[in-house]
Amino acid sequence: MAESSSSTSDSLLARHILHRRTIAPKNFKHEVPDHGFVAKAIDIARNAPNHRRTEPCRFYLLDTARIREIGQLFGELVCGAEPTNESRARGSKKKIEWASSPGLLVVTQFTDRSSVLVQHNPEVVREDYATCCCIVQNILLLLEEANISSKWSTGPVWKHPRFREVVGISHAPPNEEVVALVFYGKSEFPKEVRQLSSLSRSLVNYLED
Ligand SMILES: Cc1cc2nc3c(=O)[nH]c(=O)nc-3n(C[C@H](O)[C@H](O)[C@H](O)COP(=O)(O)O)c2cc1C
Repeated sequence: MAESSSSTSDSLLARHILHRRTIAPKNFKHEVPDHGFVAKAIDIARNAPNHRRTEPCRFYLLDTARIREIGQLFGELVCGAEPTNESRARGSKKKIEWASSPGLLVVTQFTDRSSVLVQHNPEVVREDYATCCCIVQNILLLLEEANISSKWSTGPVWKHPRFREVVGISHAPPNEEVVALVFYGKSEFPKEVRQLSSLSRSLVNYLED
């Protein structure tokens, strides 16, 4: 980060943004995280920019039994309908990793495609997705602040025919779709600030020489 922005990068929020890292569930400790805190974080995180004030995010904070089931479903998917030794091994590994996560939050986007709003403004679907992504990042940062590690996954477990029933998703696709599976737990896995490419590659700054 540029020298001139050092005071910005010293702020608490900047530190959480910089130090948040994706940590795989296999690196979580068995210690139970504070699920009550996660519920509160969800509530705060909802305060994200939301054109049309549609409040499109839905949240499913799973209990241990459901986390195990989701692990089982993903294991089955990875294993495949015509399993090989290799796919069986991968499926079994994924099942164990997912099922043992101490926390799992499923975040979906609910945007009713048949609503008058969407019929007249089809861009709302994309805008709602943007809002959901802002909310997920807010959640990850609040977890980071509370020393709870996380992983945003889009591992396609929702392709499993039982996924919606296990999670309790009430609206049919495409009106309600998964945005993120947020695995979370305590971890001491080392986290480093990620090295990004030079900012000049992505920023056109007319205010500097
Ligand atoms: C929309 C989205 C989907 C993601 N899906 C996966 C996934 O399915 N599997 C995975 O290992 N990581 C997934 N990630 C995490 C990214 O791989 C991770 O953010 C990236 O490697 C950068 O690492 P960092 O989060 O530590 O900065 C996803 C992240 C986003 C934003």
